[in-house]
Amino acid sequence: MLSFIINNKEICTDLPSGMVLLDFIREEQHLTGTKEACREGECGACTVLVGTMCPDGISYKACASCILPIGDVKGCHIVTVEGLSGDTLNTVQRLIVENNASQCGFCTPGIVLSLTGFCLTSETFAYEDAIDALDGNICRCTGYVSIRSAARCLCEELRHICDNKNGRIPALIEAGVLPRYFLDIPARLKALASCSVSADTSSKCSNSNTVPVAGGTDLFVQKPEELRAAHIAFLSRRSDLNYIRAGDASLFIGSAVTIEEFRNSPEVLRYFPSMKSDLLRHSSHILRNKATLAGNIINASPVGDMSIILLALGARLVIEGKDGKTRNTPLEEFFLGYKKMAYSCGELVREIVIPLPSNTLFNFEKVSNRETLDIAAVNTAMHINISADDKIVDLRISAGGVAPIPLLVRGLEKFYGLKTVPDTCLAIADTVMNSVTPIDDIRGSAEYKKLLLKQLILAHFDTFGIRQVTK
Ligand SMILES: Cc1cc2nc3c(=O)[nH]c(=O)nc-3n(C[C@H](O)[C@H](O)[C@H](O)COP(=O)(O)OP(=O)(O)OC[C@H]3O[C@@H](n4cnc5c(N)ncnc54)[C@H](O)[C@@H]3O)c2cc1C
Ligand code: FES
Ligand code: FES
Repeated sequence: MLSFIINNKEICTDLPSGMVLLDFIREEQHLTGTKEACREGECGACTVLVGTMCPDGISYKACASCILPIGDVKGCHIVTVEGLSGDTLNTVQRLIVENNASQCGFCTPGIVLSLTGFCLTSETFAYEDAIDALDGNICRCTGYVSIRSAARCLCEELRHICDNKNGRIPALIEAGVLPRYFLDIPARLKALASCSVSADTSSKCSNSNTVPVAGGTDLFVQKPEELRAAHIAFLSRRSDLNYIRAGDASLFIGSAVTIEEFRNSPEVLRYFPSMKSDLLRHSSHILRNKATLAGNIINASPVGDMSIILLALGARLVIEGKDGKTRNTPLEEFFLGYKKMAYSCGELVREIVIPLPSNTLFNFEKVSNRETLDIAAVNTAMHINISADDKIVDLRISAGGVAPIPLLVRGLEKFYGLKTVPDTCLAIADTVMNSVTPIDDIRGSAEYKKLLLKQLILAHFDTFGIRQVTK
């Protein structure tokens, strides 16, 4: 039996844990405010809030319900647009109306939920953050100017509650964003958990027929029907896999950590401050709230953004075998061929370890058709250590979209000891360009991708303040 709360109603169901939440909401609960459109996480029409109990209380995140299995929301509070307002519109809805930010209305519930998620999580109510929160919501008719105006008004109206000492949820109730029943939800979720008779074993990979699902943002796009009846291990439920720890020389990332948690982690940003904006280029807010680093690696896409970033950072994987023993594999040795990995069925990635060398510079570049919500035509990351007298001490460059695997470029040791003058940078860019053999596909011709990669390598140096003379 799965139990959770949708809006103000407790749910207990024995429907398969692989059924997607969108179907449960619309077909079983007849809550049709949550819209169905792409069913692939692309449009945001199905956005809901998922509230999960945590040591500090309850934490809400906006997620795409079309690729979210109900087994993953066991013990959670799900909020749809019907759960936000009573007899009158809530503050977010009112501002949408006042700013003429809805025309056909199909995208509007998703936009309301994403903005409400922003209200629950934003520290400062910065307008830019509100716009980032909407990066997974596509509107096809209103136009984004009026939606942005509604977001701006929301930030202005709520900025005063930043310092509210009573907590965010009471402050948002006061501000007319949330209804009053939100106050009782934590106690109701605790009661729901304690009256649940069966132990939760669904998060363990008990046999090789079990499918490990982390965020599900790949799997539930690829094979939702097959997964509906499958035996699933929900890795996001495993607190032992959900941590980011900084040691003396490495960062340790549990495999249940989401890309959004990584992007906002103080430990990560202390060493890699650009990650906050770099990872805005990965999918969208409603996906990053579920998608994990480990899922991106096991997906083994040649353009996987996290794989490209982690390759340049020299990461290694801690992999647990069926017998419970663990082994360490450098990520650069993990990808063997197109979607082939040094990994066998039934194994589990437990941890990703990122070394923390001092005095290094890091940069990530990505070119895709759309700025957000799109995979790369070509992406690349550079991690470079430059000595006090301006010589290259260490250099790692990764490149995606130019090989069957996420690629770590080899043979760059010949540049060690050279000064980072424009000629050296250009020679590095040429070496990288000439070392790859991309194929023609819908994202561009092989020749285009090679030239693009060269420009992106030069862009890394530009970002580090090493100016180029373009040739
Ligand atoms: C609309 C959309 C946009 C996207 N945009 C991008 C983008 O911009 N950049 C990008 O790189 N990707 C993108 N993706 C792909 C996807 O979001 C990422 O690959 C994501 O990181 C996958 O993580 P997940 O946790 O959701 O994986 P899941 O779907 O849960 O799993 C993926 C695979 O990994 C396995 N797995 C997961 N965790 C483990 C583990 N710990 N041990 C062993 N096996 C495991 C699963 O069994 C499965 O085979 C996009 C996807 C969608 C739907
Ligand atoms: S229906 Fe488009 S993101 Fe879910
Ligand atoms: S109002 Fe029609 S799609 Fe946004």
